[in-house]
Amino acid sequence: MARFTDNWLSELYSKNDIVDVVSEYTTLTERGGRYWGLCPFHSEKTPSFSVSRDKQLYYCFGCKGGGNVTNFIMKTENVTFPEAVERLAKRANMEMQEVLEDKQYKKITQKKKTIVSMNKIAAQLYYDTLHSPVGKEALSYLKRRGIDENSIKRFGLGFAPDDWSTVTDLLKKEGFKDEDIKDSGLVSVKNNNMFDTFRNRVMFPIINTFGDVIAFGGRVMDDSTPKYLNTKETAAFNKRRNLYGIDLIRKMKGIKGVVIVEGYMDVVSLSAHGVKAAVASLGTAFTRQQAMLIKRYTSDVFVAYDGDSAGQIATMKALDILSGEGLNVRVVQFADGEDPDDFIRKNELAGFAKKVKHSLTAIGYKLDVKKREFDMKTEDGREGYAIAAAKIIGSIDSPIKQERYIARIAEQTGYSEHALSQQIQGASADEKGTKKSRITSINKSRENIENVFLAFAMANPQYVVDVAHIIKIDDFSQKTHKNIFSVLYECIKRGVQPTYAELVSELETEEDTNEAARLAEIDTVASDPRGYMIDCANKMSRHVQESKRSKLLDQMQDATSEQRKKLLAEIGEIDKELRDKSGGVR
Ligand code: CTP
Ligand code: MN
Repeated sequence: MARFTDNWLSELYSKNDIVDVVSEYTTLTERGGRYWGLCPFHSEKTPSFSVSRDKQLYYCFGCKGGGNVTNFIMKTENVTFPEAVERLAKRANMEMQEVLEDKQYKKITQKKKTIVSMNKIAAQLYYDTLHSPVGKEALSYLKRRGIDENSIKRFGLGFAPDDWSTVTDLLKKEGFKDEDIKDSGLVSVKNNNMFDTFRNRVMFPIINTFGDVIAFGGRVMDDSTPKYLNTKETAAFNKRRNLYGIDLIRKMKGIKGVVIVEGYMDVVSLSAHGVKAAVASLGTAFTRQQAMLIKRYTSDVFVAYDGDSAGQIATMKALDILSGEGLNVRVVQFADGEDPDDFIRKNELAGFAKKVKHSLTAIGYKLDVKKREFDMKTEDGREGYAIAAAKIIGSIDSPIKQERYIARIAEQTGYSEHALSQQIQGASADEKGTKKSRITSINKSRENIENVFLAFAMANPQYVVDVAHIIKIDDFSQKTHKNIFSVLYECIKRGVQPTYAELVSELETEEDTNEAARLAEIDTVASDPRGYMIDCANKMSRHVQESKRSKLLDQMQDATSEQRKKLLAEIGEIDKELRDKSGGVR
């Protein structure tokens, strides 16, 4: 199949928000955390067409059609997949990428490997240079900022010499082809001349969960600009899919949560002061793919962004993404103009621990930020805040969890808890009504297990490897399900944990995309999603074995004695497998 690269498509999807695109065709209204409108594909009077910003999918409960933004364009504009992609690329001002054949696709994988090995060589060079006479100034810069030798080693920090060709020469000497060297981002080209991209900068290698150095961030040591230079997007580096510090998280056992910060320096400095589990996004806003990455290691996150207004806006966005992925989020706040690095250098680990202890829940933080919009000294201000707060509290689905906030708001605004509760019920009546009627009630029949399993697999692609040895593609009863699972599995095999929209983009028929969009509507809240998926997979595989067994028994009826022997042996095999599955109890 002809295809675009994962990285390019991922950028395309991140630049074409489905809510914005669909809004260009039909009017959408936000209700209950999703967007509703009249379906453009069938005629209706009440809206049953819904769009999820979280999942970047649409689904019509009326005509049962669904998919991602590309599928939407294909259908409304009646165009093919590549044509729809082209339109979206134009809309986002992206250069169109050549369609790749499988052979080219393999070439990219090869390129990835070559770039990673060049990066490894460069990282070693930077590290050695930091500890050589040339790196003296850089080393004392780091020491001055409280970064000790242990931390330098832990993060593999280095220094890029103030020279135009050190890295270029080394890579050439190592026998890499000019073309590959240029594609690595380590080297830049001007007027046909190659020169080192990073010069006179403190170097932060960016390492993925496989331990590969996939890129670098380089910081100047004075006030010159740009403060940081990052490796461009390459075959090996996608900044939306990776996190600075994630390789260290992977190596740690039993972490209690991860602190998410804005800067490389924050990660290193927190670690140097004893907060080992910290990560930072890579010079872009926090993404859903990054939330999914964290979810592999913990379900508790602490957002600790800079205490300025940019940090506040970024926190709000990150909160929605993280909660959307089902993570428990808390917010650690800093004074305006202060970042985690400044704070921990002043207040040490104990001070930071106190901050974490007093961190706010997502709702607490939202209320806090909202409150600043009102003048609480006036009656109007308190009323305005009470109404706005009721709306925020109404988004919590547990009445018990609502109560503590109600009490707090009552105290702050002077309105009675009763009035606030009424207000909340009014505000959330809409939401609840639509939500209840949509949520699929799940019983455990065979078909349903398959549905639920796939819904969980789409929500938690990181666990697909854990079930891959339990079920096979053929174990799925429906063709669409086979296709969805095999596409998901293929993505995982090439190191991509797809978002909903990315997964759907790999499906080839409309039937498949409709079904995937339908499955994405199934509720996937569970305390242990991985365990749940393994359970489902075991049940599915048992169903398959049992039906195979009863078919063999049928065949026994009119089999010759020779055939019977063979059939019995097969049944014996199945029985053994079934016994193994139930741990010998049977
Ligand atoms: N960033 C970037 N390019 C820039 C500035 C910032 O890519 N020109 C990214 C980097 O990933 C950086 C992060 O945004 O780590 C946060 O920026 P900032 O708070 O300015 O950097 P710190 O890491 O806190 O660095 P320092 O404390 O040394 O100023
Ligand atoms: Mn900083």
